[in-house]
Amino acid sequence: ATPTVAIVGATGAVGVELLHCLEARNFPLAGLKLLASPRSAGRTLRFRNQELPVEALDEASFEGVNVALFSAGSGVSKRYAAAAVKAGAVVVDNSSAFRMDPDVPLVVPEVNGAAIASHRGIIANPNCVAIIATVPLWPLHQRHRIRRVTAATYQAASGAGAAAMEELRESTAAALRGEAFTPRVLPHPYAFNLFSHNAEVDPESGYNGEELKVIAETRRIMDVPALPIGITCVRVPVLRAHAIALTVEFEAPVTPEEVRATLAGAPGVRLVDDRAANHFPMPSEATGQGDVLAGRIRPDLGDPSGRSVALFVAGDQLLKGAALNAVQIAEQLLRR
Ligand code: A2P
Repeated sequence: ATPTVAIVGATGAVGVELLHCLEARNFPLAGLKLLASPRSAGRTLRFRNQELPVEALDEASFEGVNVALFSAGSGVSKRYAAAAVKAGAVVVDNSSAFRMDPDVPLVVPEVNGAAIASHRGIIANPNCVAIIATVPLWPLHQRHRIRRVTAATYQAASGAGAAAMEELRESTAAALRGEAFTPRVLPHPYAFNLFSHNAEVDPESGYNGEELKVIAETRRIMDVPALPIGITCVRVPVLRAHAIALTVEFEAPVTPEEVRATLAGAPGVRLVDDRAANHFPMPSEATGQGDVLAGRIRPDLGDPSGRSVALFVAGDQLLKGAALNAVQIAEQLLRR
């Protein structure tokens, strides 16, 4: 039967993209319910040439809903996901609330779509960096066996929500006018600057919460529980696409040409690797794209054994990193 879908957090940065993805992909719908905080009740959002009302979320919001796409932060997911499941909906949750729960599949459809079948009412959509990294890492692992990964991220404002994107715009405009700007959303000046990811730092390990999520989720999605991963997460003044420098050590020597050939046919990956034109993955070109762009594929000269290859990837944080991945999960769910 054609499903009724609810979007929780419909007015947020990811929520609006969920609407766009459902529309662009012609998702079959019997009804669409837009939910947000009471602050947004009475607003409308445009969908398929209609103005749909936004309603305030409460326990009763899920009556008649078959699929609930949650993107309003982990507090809201923890508080309301059970109500949605009780009402008979399957929850696809974009927050970190349930990602490490062994009863909740953590899914990137190109990697472990089969895990969807084991859900018990909730399916978790992974962290945006974990999604954008595993789309190219998975085919490499299948073909060549990965032994170790080192990553550095260049993360956009969108991961911190619509208010952070607005802060990047406003603080940049203020800087260009020569005016002072006091950050409200992020902890440091964002215009013409970059800083270590704003997630809290674990005093023991020195890793921040974002880095720890990416490590744990990448291992879980790829089902390699002890995969050694080192990572540095950085927020850069880009609106909505993340980039990642990846160094991948394989179990045996692998050439950059083999890596390029593997990625050329991989689902969800598009090669952008033109050395003559110095044209490689960029956030500006990843923006609005469903694919993860991959390029700069070259030997890691830091590992003389020939087992390591370096590459650079970029993906739209709001699309493949969040809304698109969630809608792809919902599509697979309906196909079952
Ligand atoms: P609202 O716009 O009414 O505040 P972002 O990630 O861009 O910051 O968006 C967060 C989304 O989550 C928004 O749609 C926001 O709605 C929604 N949201 C935040 N808190 C709640 C809440 N307590 N109940 C329902 N929706 C919420």
